[in-house]
Amino acid sequence: MSDVLTVRGLTVSVRSKTLVDDVDLTVGPGERVGLIGESGSGKSLTALSILGLLPEDVHAAGSVRLSGVEHELIGADERRMSRVRGRDLAMVFQEPMTALNPTMRVGDQVAEAMLIHRTVPGRRAARAAASELLDRVQLSGALRAYPHQLSGGQRQRVVVALALANDPALLICDEPTTALDVTVQAMVLDLIVQGVAARESALLFITHDLAVVATVCQRVLVMYGGRVVESGPVAEVFTNPRHRYTQGLIAASDLESADRRLPTIPGNVPAAGQFPSGCVFRTRCAHATDLCATVPPWDGTPSHGFACHHPAPALETTHA
Ligand SMILES: Nc1ncnc2c1ncn2[C@@H]1O[C@H](COP(=O)(O)OP(=O)(O)OP(=O)(O)O)[C@@H](O)[C@H]1O
Ligand code: SF4
Ligand SMILES: [Mg+2]
Repeated sequence: MSDVLTVRGLTVSVRSKTLVDDVDLTVGPGERVGLIGESGSGKSLTALSILGLLPEDVHAAGSVRLSGVEHELIGADERRMSRVRGRDLAMVFQEPMTALNPTMRVGDQVAEAMLIHRTVPGRRAARAAASELLDRVQLSGALRAYPHQLSGGQRQRVVVALALANDPALLICDEPTTALDVTVQAMVLDLIVQGVAARESALLFITHDLAVVATVCQRVLVMYGGRVVESGPVAEVFTNPRHRYTQGLIAASDLESADRRLPTIPGNVPAAGQFPSGCVFRTRCAHATDLCATVPPWDGTPSHGFACHHPAPALETTHA
């Protein structure tokens, strides 16, 4: 079956600075893909480019195609993008209030999302569907509440219900639980995973939390300096990272630890547009040689590979 999301050669720039460089990424039907990398690696800009929500002075080039949508998303005008967003493509960001209307009851907001995209036959059906959706996120009592009457976790559950209202082909989450208490995080993550599974929606999930990637995602992409440096099945990338940056991330992390923020690797992340030529990681890499001044080629398939001149050795896999 063809992919739900196909991103090819995505480059994002502001004036002469390149912030995201030649990113390729695909998400298959029903697939859950994680996007990780230190702060400033270009994760959010990648997501915002797909959604057509980049700030005015930031420009995207390349190709973003979504199954079921006839047109290219890069460069599509706002009229076309607003039809796609909320119907084929939905999102959950860190701060739920940015997605909610403070002056409207949450039940009405969920119903409205379906009416706008005409995915229900009428107002009565929309209200019934909204009530059912809020039930699913365990907020049956909140139908008539305003956002300010709910807790942060409850608001984020409303946003999840809103995002899933029109059975999107793809849900993009950018740090959806970072602002929530740990106990609430697990519940919201569960609702996201159950919600996409029930609809067979694909998921692109951005997080700093490696343990969350391990529980939520099947495949992971690692970004650094605006590039995808490695991708593959979560179990393989986490146990046998090949790119030296991924290896540093995994080695410095403790998936069992209570503090699950992405660990830092020695050295500082350069400022945007200040990454070295060749391998973007070479100013921090203990394995760098002169060869690393050239861009490392991608080794592997688009969905499972890495770009490093001196990769960590592949571990022997045991075959039954
Ligand atoms: N409007 C902008 N103008 C200039 N630079 C920007 C703009 N938006 C983002 N950047 C820069 O682009 C780089 C990538 O930003 P992005 O928000 O995608 O990072 P991120 O991987 O999502 O980081 P975080 O984990 O902190 O959310 C950063 O260095 C950021 O400072
Ligand atoms: S290409 Fe070179 S600098 Fe980059 S991660 Fe690999 S070894 Fe390090
Ligand atoms: Mg971000």
